[in-house]
Amino acid sequence: MSFTADRLLLFGATGDLSQRMLLPSLYALDSEKRLDPKLVIIGTARSELNTSAFRNLAREALDKFLPANRRGSYATFLNRLSYHPLDATKPAGFKALAKKVGTPDQGLAIFLSTAPSLFEPTIAGLAANGLAGEHVRIGLEKPLGTDLESSRHINDAVASAFPEDRIFRIDHYLGKETVQNLLALRFANLMFEPLWNAAHIDHVQITVAETVGLEGRVSFYDGAGALRDMVANHMLQLLALVAMEPPSSYSATEIRDEKVKVLRSLRLVGPDETVTGQYQAGAIAGAAVPGYVDELGQPSSTETFVAIKAHIDNWRWKGVPFYLRTGKRMPERVTEIIVTFRCVPHSIFAGPNLKGGGARSEPNKLVIGIQPEENITLSLMAKVPGLDREGIRLRPVPLNIAMADAFAGPNKRIAYERLLLDLIDGDQTLFVRRDEVEAQWDWIDAIRASWADHGVTPKLYTAGSWGPTAAIALAERDGVTWNE
Ligand code: BG6
Repeated sequence: MSFTADRLLLFGATGDLSQRMLLPSLYALDSEKRLDPKLVIIGTARSELNTSAFRNLAREALDKFLPANRRGSYATFLNRLSYHPLDATKPAGFKALAKKVGTPDQGLAIFLSTAPSLFEPTIAGLAANGLAGEHVRIGLEKPLGTDLESSRHINDAVASAFPEDRIFRIDHYLGKETVQNLLALRFANLMFEPLWNAAHIDHVQITVAETVGLEGRVSFYDGAGALRDMVANHMLQLLALVAMEPPSSYSATEIRDEKVKVLRSLRLVGPDETVTGQYQAGAIAGAAVPGYVDELGQPSSTETFVAIKAHIDNWRWKGVPFYLRTGKRMPERVTEIIVTFRCVPHSIFAGPNLKGGGARSEPNKLVIGIQPEENITLSLMAKVPGLDREGIRLRPVPLNIAMADAFAGPNKRIAYERLLLDLIDGDQTLFVRRDEVEAQWDWIDAIRASWADHGVTPKLYTAGSWGPTAAIALAERDGVTWNE
């Protein structure tokens, strides 16, 4: 059913995600007049706050987490906010919450950003108190379970009260502008698609490197690890967008249909196709940082780094490895996708009869930078200028598009701005469907099972490095070098 919600109910409203991302995103949308003037935002969490204390919390969060150039007067936005304390494990409290939410004129959008253990009681409380009807849609923040079985359990609980077309599973990477731009790059340009296959692409790399460590998320992260925290969702979504067949239109069903086919075509990963690591003390940007177990305060075999050589078993990608790696406490924060094309079939510039033995040609590379900078670079071979008395020389030169220069406007949006607006408006294109989540877990569970079978424990790497040396070897034994 199509409606623009005029009530937004935020569960976990005092939590970290809300303060860092959701409230700043909502304010940013409000300041650009993107929110319906009637939209009321109701926050709820266990903390016993009143509306005025919640508004203070929101004001402080905006001061702390919004970049200075996006701050302005908060008054109109704060006036939209109200608060109602709720212990979601106690069904009795939902009646008063429903009263506080009232009857929307147009519809209600709910956003659950709570511990997964609260999903079930929350859904039950909503359903029992008239907060799950036709005019209600629900957004779910990750983690949606820790494996296929637990994710099915959560999905079943949600499905008992909401049909799939009113469930919005968030993967905030899909809210990032450059991630959406992948679709434009691939399908709004003629020149890439004919080359986008095993005949012309040698391999693909996807790196999501972070400089941060545990960030105080002890209880969550140690039970998750890099594979489930980053690969199971964000990285597989990036891989699916790179590898999917052209959808017939830019619509939620068509795009998600194509993504899920890729996820289901992922080959089981062999024991020698993954490397795991855990950071020990080191230095980042010249500052000393402690090791993972020191931050944690106890021994742990959780991986903070993982590299995987993945394969997609379909016609398009037969024999093209996708090298994925992600880690905490890497030397720099960078998310990028690198598509390396094959060498030209015959180089006219090489050969013993040419002066100096000829020139070496390198394969073209397309680098899609997602963060911190949004840019697209295509490396092309060019002749080094000169009279060539010693023979022609060739060198790769970049064809560079920096999105920030190409487009005016706030191009550094928070990913949640887009996602919250789509949730309010009811557009599911950038949300993850149940079958995608299940295909993702299916593949991830098999990797974890193989680690357990082979007694894999993470190798130590120094904070500020690119992970264990075995990760370098994983690519180099195929003659591939990670882009650094
Ligand atoms: C989250 C993970 O989903 O994504 C975090 O739980 C990670 O561990 C974060 O730091 C990275 O997001 P971004 O947008 O900063 O790349």
